[in-house]
Amino acid sequence: MKLVYLDNAATTAIDAEVEKFMQKCQLGLYGNASSIHKKGREAKEELEKARKVIAKSIGAKEKEIIFTSGGTEANNFAVKGVAFANKGKGRRIITTKIEHECVLNSCRWLEEQGWKVTYLGVDGKGFVSGKELEKAIRKDTVLVSIIHGNNEIGVIQDLKELHEICKRHDVLFHTDACQSYTKAELKAEWADLITLNAHKIHGPKGVGALYIKERVKISPWQHGGGHERGMRSGTENLAGIAGFAKAVELAVDDKEGKKRMAKLRDCLISELLKIPRTTLNGPRGERRLCNNANVSFAGVEGEGIVAALDAKGVCASTGSACASRSLEPSHVLIALENNPERAHGSVRFTLSRYSTKEEVKYAAKCAGEVVEKLRKISPLESERER
Ligand SMILES: Cc1ncc(COP(=O)(O)O)c(C=O)c1O
Repeated sequence: MKLVYLDNAATTAIDAEVEKFMQKCQLGLYGNASSIHKKGREAKEELEKARKVIAKSIGAKEKEIIFTSGGTEANNFAVKGVAFANKGKGRRIITTKIEHECVLNSCRWLEEQGWKVTYLGVDGKGFVSGKELEKAIRKDTVLVSIIHGNNEIGVIQDLKELHEICKRHDVLFHTDACQSYTKAELKAEWADLITLNAHKIHGPKGVGALYIKERVKISPWQHGGGHERGMRSGTENLAGIAGFAKAVELAVDDKEGKKRMAKLRDCLISELLKIPRTTLNGPRGERRLCNNANVSFAGVEGEGIVAALDAKGVCASTGSACASRSLEPSHVLIALENNPERAHGSVRFTLSRYSTKEEVKYAAKCAGEVVEKLRKISPLESERER
Protein backbone atom coordinates (compact mmCIF):
# COMPACT_ATOMS: atom_id res chain seq x y z
CA MET A 1 0.00 0.00 0.00
CA LYS A 2 1.36 3.42 -0.89
CA LEU A 3 1.68 6.00 1.83
CA VAL A 4 0.49 9.55 1.22
CA TYR A 5 1.62 11.88 3.96
CA LEU A 6 -0.63 14.93 4.10
CA ASP A 7 -0.13 15.98 7.71
CA ASN A 8 2.70 18.43 7.21
CA ALA A 9 1.20 21.02 9.56
CA ALA A 10 1.73 18.50 12.37
CA THR A 11 5.29 17.88 11.28
CA THR A 12 7.34 17.24 8.16
CA ALA A 13 9.76 14.55 7.10
CA ILE A 14 13.32 15.67 7.64
CA ASP A 15 15.09 16.60 4.41
CA ALA A 16 17.91 14.17 3.54
CA GLU A 17 20.36 17.05 3.07
CA VAL A 18 19.42 18.49 6.48
CA GLU A 19 19.88 15.09 8.10
CA LYS A 20 23.29 14.60 6.47
CA PHE A 21 24.44 18.04 7.57
CA MET A 22 23.22 17.45 11.11
CA GLN A 23 25.09 14.18 11.33
CA LYS A 24 28.26 15.91 10.23
CA CYS A 25 27.75 18.56 12.93
CA GLN A 26 26.84 15.99 15.56
CA LEU A 27 29.99 13.98 14.93
CA GLY A 28 32.45 16.74 14.14
CA LEU A 29 31.25 19.78 16.04
CA TYR A 30 30.82 18.19 19.45
CA GLY A 31 32.41 21.08 21.34
CA ASN A 32 30.41 23.29 23.65
CA ALA A 33 29.85 26.62 21.90
CA SER A 34 30.71 28.38 25.17
CA SER A 35 34.15 26.77 25.44
CA ILE A 36 37.09 28.91 24.42
CA HIS A 37 39.23 26.13 22.91
CA LYS A 38 39.31 25.02 19.28
CA LYS A 39 36.33 22.64 19.50
CA GLY A 40 34.30 25.27 21.31
CA ARG A 41 35.22 27.92 18.75
CA GLU A 42 34.25 25.62 15.88
CA ALA A 43 30.86 25.00 17.44
CA LYS A 44 30.36 28.71 18.14
CA GLU A 45 31.21 29.54 14.53
CA GLU A 46 28.53 27.14 13.22
CA LEU A 47 26.02 28.46 15.76
CA GLU A 48 26.57 32.03 14.60
CA LYS A 49 26.37 30.98 10.95
CA ALA A 50 22.96 29.47 11.66
CA ARG A 51 21.84 32.60 13.48
CA LYS A 52 22.84 34.67 10.46
CA VAL A 53 20.76 32.49 8.11
CA ILE A 54 17.65 32.73 10.27
CA ALA A 55 18.08 36.46 10.88
CA LYS A 56 18.54 37.14 7.16
CA SER A 57 15.46 35.11 6.25
CA ILE A 58 13.21 37.64 8.01
CA GLY A 59 15.38 40.74 7.72
CA ALA A 60 16.41 40.79 11.39
CA LYS A 61 19.74 41.49 13.07
CA GLU A 62 21.67 38.44 14.22
CA LYS A 63 21.57 39.52 17.87
CA GLU A 64 17.76 39.60 17.65
CA ILE A 65 17.53 35.80 17.20
CA ILE A 66 17.42 33.58 20.31
CA PHE A 67 17.41 29.82 19.79
CA THR A 68 14.92 27.73 21.75
CA SER A 69 13.76 24.14 21.99
CA GLY A 70 10.92 24.83 19.55
CA GLY A 71 7.79 26.84 18.92
CA THR A 72 6.20 25.99 22.26
CA GLU A 73 9.12 27.34 24.23
CA ALA A 74 9.45 30.44 22.05
CA ASN A 75 5.74 31.23 22.48
CA ASN A 76 5.89 30.67 26.26
CA PHE A 77 8.97 32.88 26.44
CA ALA A 78 7.43 35.66 24.36
CA VAL A 79 4.12 35.79 26.21
CA LYS A 80 5.34 35.27 29.77
CA GLY A 81 8.67 37.05 29.30
CA VAL A 82 7.02 40.23 27.99
CA ALA A 83 4.24 40.04 30.59
CA PHE A 84 6.67 39.86 33.49
CA ALA A 85 9.14 42.41 32.16
CA ASN A 86 6.41 44.99 31.59
CA LYS A 87 4.16 44.43 34.58
CA GLY A 88 5.08 47.90 35.84
CA LYS A 89 3.13 49.30 32.90
CA GLY A 90 0.18 46.96 33.23
CA ARG A 91 -1.08 43.43 33.38
CA ARG A 92 -3.26 43.19 30.30
CA ILE A 93 -2.72 41.03 27.22
CA ILE A 94 -4.69 40.62 24.02
CA THR A 95 -4.68 37.45 21.97
CA THR A 96 -7.20 35.59 19.79
CA LYS A 97 -9.47 32.60 20.11
CA ILE A 98 -7.61 30.82 17.30
CA GLU A 99 -4.10 30.64 18.75
CA HIS A 100 -2.11 27.47 19.17
CA GLU A 101 -2.57 25.90 22.60
CA CYS A 102 0.88 26.97 23.76
CA VAL A 103 -0.10 30.64 23.47
CA LEU A 104 -3.60 30.07 24.86
CA ASN A 105 -2.33 28.06 27.82
CA SER A 106 0.43 30.59 28.54
CA CYS A 107 -2.26 33.28 28.64
CA ARG A 108 -4.52 31.16 30.85
CA TRP A 109 -1.63 30.60 33.22
CA LEU A 110 -0.99 34.35 33.34
CA GLU A 111 -4.67 34.88 34.17
CA GLU A 112 -4.16 32.65 37.19
CA GLN A 113 -1.28 34.95 38.21
CA GLY A 114 -3.49 38.04 38.02
CA TRP A 115 -3.15 39.19 34.40
CA LYS A 116 -6.24 40.12 32.37
CA VAL A 117 -6.47 38.56 28.93
CA THR A 118 -8.81 39.49 26.08
CA TYR A 119 -9.42 36.72 23.54
CA LEU A 120 -10.44 38.36 20.25
CA GLY A 121 -12.93 36.56 18.03
CA VAL A 122 -12.53 36.17 14.27
CA ASP A 123 -14.85 36.45 11.28
CA GLY A 124 -16.27 33.48 9.37
CA LYS A 125 -13.01 32.97 7.45
CA GLY A 126 -10.79 33.33 10.49
CA PHE A 127 -9.62 36.94 10.11
CA VAL A 128 -8.93 39.13 13.11
CA SER A 129 -10.37 42.63 12.74
CA GLY A 130 -7.99 45.54 13.18
CA LYS A 131 -10.89 47.64 14.47
CA GLU A 132 -11.71 45.06 17.14
CA LEU A 133 -8.07 44.93 18.14
CA GLU A 134 -7.86 48.71 18.45
CA LYS A 135 -11.05 48.79 20.54
CA ALA A 136 -9.65 46.17 22.91
CA ILE A 137 -6.39 48.00 23.65
CA ARG A 138 -6.28 49.74 27.06
CA LYS A 139 -3.66 51.90 28.76
CA ASP A 140 -2.42 48.89 30.72
CA THR A 141 -2.16 46.53 27.70
CA VAL A 142 1.43 45.37 27.35
CA LEU A 143 1.26 42.70 24.67
CA VAL A 144 -0.78 41.61 21.67
CA SER A 145 -0.10 38.07 20.44
CA ILE A 146 -1.71 37.00 17.17
CA ILE A 147 -0.85 33.91 15.14
CA HIS A 148 0.37 34.58 11.58
CA GLY A 149 -0.65 31.44 9.62
CA ASN A 150 -3.20 29.37 11.49
CA ASN A 151 -2.25 25.73 12.03
CA GLU A 152 -5.78 24.41 11.52
CA ILE A 153 -7.49 26.49 8.87
CA GLY A 154 -4.50 28.16 7.25
CA VAL A 155 -5.78 31.74 7.46
CA ILE A 156 -2.98 34.31 7.24
CA GLN A 157 -3.38 37.50 9.27
CA ASP A 158 -2.27 40.91 8.06
CA LEU A 159 0.65 41.38 10.44
CA LYS A 160 1.61 44.74 9.02
CA GLU A 161 -1.80 46.25 9.74
CA LEU A 162 -2.06 44.69 13.21
CA HIS A 163 1.45 45.79 14.14
CA GLU A 164 0.76 49.37 13.00
CA ILE A 165 -2.20 49.49 15.39
CA CYS A 166 -0.04 48.21 18.25
CA LYS A 167 2.68 50.74 17.46
CA ARG A 168 0.17 53.60 17.54
CA HIS A 169 -0.79 52.55 21.07
CA ASP A 170 2.73 51.71 22.22
CA VAL A 171 1.92 48.02 22.76
CA LEU A 172 4.32 45.19 21.91
CA PHE A 173 3.23 42.82 19.17
CA HIS A 174 4.13 39.11 19.01
CA THR A 175 3.26 36.64 16.30
CA ASP A 176 3.50 32.87 16.17
CA ALA A 177 4.82 32.16 12.68
CA CYS A 178 5.55 28.43 13.04
CA GLN A 179 3.21 27.53 10.18
CA SER A 180 3.88 30.45 7.87
CA TYR A 181 7.68 30.60 8.12
CA THR A 182 9.14 30.29 4.59
CA LYS A 183 5.61 29.60 3.24
CA ALA A 184 4.28 33.16 3.40
CA GLU A 185 6.01 36.51 3.34
CA LEU A 186 7.28 37.34 6.82
CA LYS A 187 9.28 40.40 7.82
CA ALA A 188 10.88 41.24 11.15
CA GLU A 189 9.56 44.79 10.75
CA TRP A 190 5.99 43.48 11.03
CA ALA A 191 6.31 42.48 14.70
CA ASP A 192 8.33 42.99 17.87
CA LEU A 193 8.62 39.27 18.56
CA ILE A 194 8.27 36.34 16.16
CA THR A 195 8.17 32.63 16.96
CA LEU A 196 9.77 30.24 14.46
CA ASN A 197 10.46 26.53 14.45
CA ALA A 198 12.27 23.94 12.36
CA HIS A 199 10.13 20.82 12.17
CA LYS A 200 7.40 22.33 10.00
CA ILE A 201 9.93 23.00 7.25
CA HIS A 202 11.74 19.65 6.95
CA GLY A 203 14.11 20.50 9.79
CA PRO A 204 14.59 18.68 13.08
CA LYS A 205 12.08 18.55 15.92
CA GLY A 206 12.96 20.27 19.19
CA VAL A 207 14.49 23.43 17.68
CA GLY A 208 13.05 26.88 17.25
CA ALA A 209 13.83 30.53 17.64
CA LEU A 210 12.36 33.71 18.97
CA TYR A 211 13.04 36.95 17.15
CA ILE A 212 13.15 39.73 19.72
CA LYS A 213 13.45 43.22 18.31
CA GLU A 214 16.27 45.23 19.81
CA ARG A 215 15.24 47.10 22.97
CA VAL A 216 12.07 45.05 23.56
CA LYS A 217 11.71 44.54 27.30
CA ILE A 218 11.51 40.79 28.02
CA SER A 219 12.47 38.74 31.06
CA PRO A 220 14.41 35.54 30.51
CA TRP A 221 12.26 32.54 31.22
CA GLN A 222 14.89 29.85 31.45
CA HIS A 223 17.69 30.60 33.90
CA GLY A 224 21.14 29.07 34.05
CA GLY A 225 24.57 29.75 32.64
CA GLY A 226 23.58 32.79 30.61
CA HIS A 227 23.59 31.34 27.10
CA GLU A 228 21.96 33.20 24.21
CA ARG A 229 22.94 36.60 25.65
CA GLY A 230 21.41 35.64 28.99
CA MET A 231 18.01 35.26 27.37
CA ARG A 232 17.81 31.47 27.26
CA SER A 233 20.23 29.39 29.25
CA GLY A 234 21.21 25.86 28.34
CA THR A 235 23.96 24.41 26.14
CA GLU A 236 22.87 25.02 22.58
CA ASN A 237 21.59 22.09 20.52
CA LEU A 238 24.16 22.77 17.86
CA ALA A 239 23.31 19.99 15.38
CA GLY A 240 19.62 20.86 15.67
CA ILE A 241 20.25 24.57 15.18
CA ALA A 242 22.55 23.93 12.21
CA GLY A 243 19.88 21.61 10.75
CA PHE A 244 17.27 24.33 11.28
CA ALA A 245 19.39 26.81 9.31
CA LYS A 246 19.98 24.29 6.54
CA ALA A 247 16.22 23.65 6.30
CA VAL A 248 15.61 27.41 6.07
CA GLU A 249 18.20 27.77 3.30
CA LEU A 250 16.61 24.95 1.31
CA ALA A 251 13.11 26.38 1.74
CA VAL A 252 14.19 29.91 0.85
CA ASP A 253 16.11 28.66 -2.22
CA ASP A 254 13.07 26.79 -3.49
CA LYS A 255 11.59 29.92 -5.07
CA GLU A 256 8.87 28.03 -6.94
CA GLY A 257 7.97 25.85 -3.95
CA LYS A 258 5.26 28.13 -2.57
CA LYS A 259 3.57 28.52 -5.94
CA ARG A 260 3.72 24.79 -6.57
CA MET A 261 2.18 24.03 -3.20
CA ALA A 262 -0.55 26.65 -3.67
CA LYS A 263 -1.50 25.09 -7.01
CA LEU A 264 -1.66 21.63 -5.47
CA ARG A 265 -3.63 23.01 -2.51
CA ASP A 266 -6.20 24.49 -4.88
CA CYS A 267 -6.41 21.24 -6.81
CA LEU A 268 -6.95 19.34 -3.54
CA ILE A 269 -9.59 21.80 -2.34
CA SER A 270 -11.53 21.60 -5.59
CA GLU A 271 -11.37 17.78 -5.59
CA LEU A 272 -12.56 17.63 -1.97
CA LEU A 273 -15.39 20.08 -2.62
CA LYS A 274 -16.74 17.72 -5.28
CA ILE A 275 -17.76 15.45 -2.40
CA PRO A 276 -21.40 16.34 -1.64
CA ARG A 277 -22.10 18.54 1.38
CA THR A 278 -18.47 19.50 1.93
CA THR A 279 -17.45 23.01 2.99
CA LEU A 280 -14.09 24.71 3.04
CA ASN A 281 -12.90 26.07 6.38
CA GLY A 282 -10.87 29.27 6.14
CA PRO A 283 -10.31 31.60 3.19
CA ARG A 284 -9.17 30.94 -0.37
CA GLY A 285 -6.22 32.37 -2.25
CA GLU A 286 -3.27 34.41 -1.06
CA ARG A 287 -4.52 34.79 2.50
CA ARG A 288 -4.44 31.04 3.03
CA LEU A 289 -1.28 29.03 3.78
CA CYS A 290 -0.07 27.51 0.53
CA ASN A 291 -0.10 23.99 1.99
CA ASN A 292 -3.41 23.91 3.89
CA ALA A 293 -6.76 22.40 2.93
CA ASN A 294 -9.29 22.05 5.73
CA VAL A 295 -12.82 20.93 4.96
CA SER A 296 -15.89 19.80 6.89
CA PHE A 297 -17.91 16.83 5.70
CA ALA A 298 -21.50 17.07 6.91
CA GLY A 299 -22.94 14.10 8.76
CA VAL A 300 -19.68 12.36 9.66
CA GLU A 301 -17.02 12.62 12.35
CA GLY A 302 -13.53 13.82 11.42
CA GLU A 303 -11.94 11.12 13.59
CA GLY A 304 -13.73 8.36 11.72
CA ILE A 305 -12.61 9.78 8.39
CA VAL A 306 -9.00 10.13 9.51
CA ALA A 307 -8.96 6.52 10.76
CA ALA A 308 -10.50 5.22 7.53
CA LEU A 309 -8.07 7.30 5.44
CA ASP A 310 -5.21 5.88 7.48
CA ALA A 311 -6.36 2.39 6.55
CA LYS A 312 -6.00 3.46 2.90
CA GLY A 313 -2.50 4.83 3.49
CA VAL A 314 -3.44 8.52 3.68
CA CYS A 315 -2.18 10.46 6.69
CA ALA A 316 -4.37 13.47 7.49
CA SER A 317 -5.66 14.89 10.75
CA THR A 318 -8.84 16.16 12.28
CA GLY A 319 -9.43 19.86 12.30
CA SER A 320 -10.77 19.17 15.72
CA ALA A 321 -8.36 18.81 18.58
CA CYS A 322 -10.41 16.11 20.22
CA ALA A 323 -9.05 12.67 20.76
CA SER A 324 -12.47 11.17 21.24
CA ARG A 325 -16.09 12.04 20.62
CA SER A 326 -16.69 13.06 24.18
CA LEU A 327 -14.13 15.86 24.03
CA GLU A 328 -14.68 19.40 22.85
CA PRO A 329 -14.40 20.14 19.13
CA SER A 330 -11.66 22.37 17.73
CA HIS A 331 -11.57 25.79 19.38
CA VAL A 332 -10.52 27.29 16.03
CA LEU A 333 -13.52 25.96 14.10
CA ILE A 334 -15.86 26.94 16.91
CA ALA A 335 -14.39 30.46 16.79
CA LEU A 336 -15.17 30.64 13.04
CA GLU A 337 -18.75 29.61 13.39
CA ASN A 338 -20.28 28.18 16.52
CA ASN A 339 -21.35 25.00 14.77
CA PRO A 340 -20.20 21.83 16.58
CA GLU A 341 -21.33 19.56 13.74
CA ARG A 342 -19.16 21.41 11.24
CA ALA A 343 -16.27 21.37 13.70
CA HIS A 344 -16.63 17.64 14.39
CA GLY A 345 -16.73 16.82 10.68
CA SER A 346 -13.55 18.67 9.79
CA VAL A 347 -10.41 17.13 8.34
CA ARG A 348 -7.13 18.88 7.64
CA PHE A 349 -4.85 17.89 4.76
CA THR A 350 -1.51 19.69 4.68
CA LEU A 351 1.02 19.47 1.88
CA SER A 352 4.77 19.79 1.74
CA ARG A 353 7.07 20.75 -1.08
CA TYR A 354 7.42 17.01 -1.80
CA SER A 355 3.69 16.44 -2.31
CA THR A 356 2.59 15.43 -5.79
CA LYS A 357 -0.54 15.75 -7.90
CA GLU A 358 -1.06 11.97 -7.85
CA GLU A 359 -0.97 12.01 -4.05
CA VAL A 360 -3.49 14.81 -3.89
CA LYS A 361 -5.82 13.07 -6.35
CA TYR A 362 -5.49 9.78 -4.50
CA ALA A 363 -6.22 11.40 -1.13
CA ALA A 364 -9.31 13.16 -2.49
CA LYS A 365 -10.56 9.95 -4.12
CA CYS A 366 -10.09 8.06 -0.84
CA ALA A 367 -11.84 10.84 1.09
CA GLY A 368 -14.84 10.59 -1.26
CA GLU A 369 -15.08 6.82 -0.78
CA VAL A 370 -14.65 7.02 2.98
CA VAL A 371 -17.19 9.81 3.45
CA GLU A 372 -19.78 7.98 1.34
CA LYS A 373 -19.27 4.77 3.32
CA LEU A 374 -19.33 6.47 6.72
CA ARG A 375 -22.43 8.48 5.88
CA LYS A 376 -24.29 5.23 5.19
CA ILE A 377 -23.71 4.10 8.76
CA SER A 378 -23.73 7.48 10.49
CA PRO A 379 -26.43 8.02 13.14
CA LEU A 380 -26.32 11.74 12.23
CA GLU A 381 -27.31 10.82 8.69
CA SER A 382 -30.18 8.53 9.72
CA GLU A 383 -31.51 11.37 11.89
CA ARG A 384 -31.27 13.76 8.92
CA GLU A 385 -33.22 11.37 6.69
CA ARG A 386 -35.98 10.85 9.22
C1 LIG B 1 1.19 27.46 15.12
C2 LIG B 1 2.05 26.62 15.99
N1 LIG B 1 2.64 27.18 17.06
C3 LIG B 1 3.43 26.47 17.87
C4 LIG B 1 3.67 25.14 17.65
C5 LIG B 1 4.54 24.38 18.61
O1 LIG B 1 5.81 24.20 18.07
P1 LIG B 1 6.79 23.03 18.58
O2 LIG B 1 6.18 21.75 18.16
O3 LIG B 1 8.08 23.34 17.89
O4 LIG B 1 6.91 23.18 20.04
C6 LIG B 1 3.09 24.52 16.55
C7 LIG B 1 3.31 23.09 16.28
O5 LIG B 1 2.45 22.27 16.47
C8 LIG B 1 2.25 25.27 15.70
O6 LIG B 1 1.63 24.73 14.65
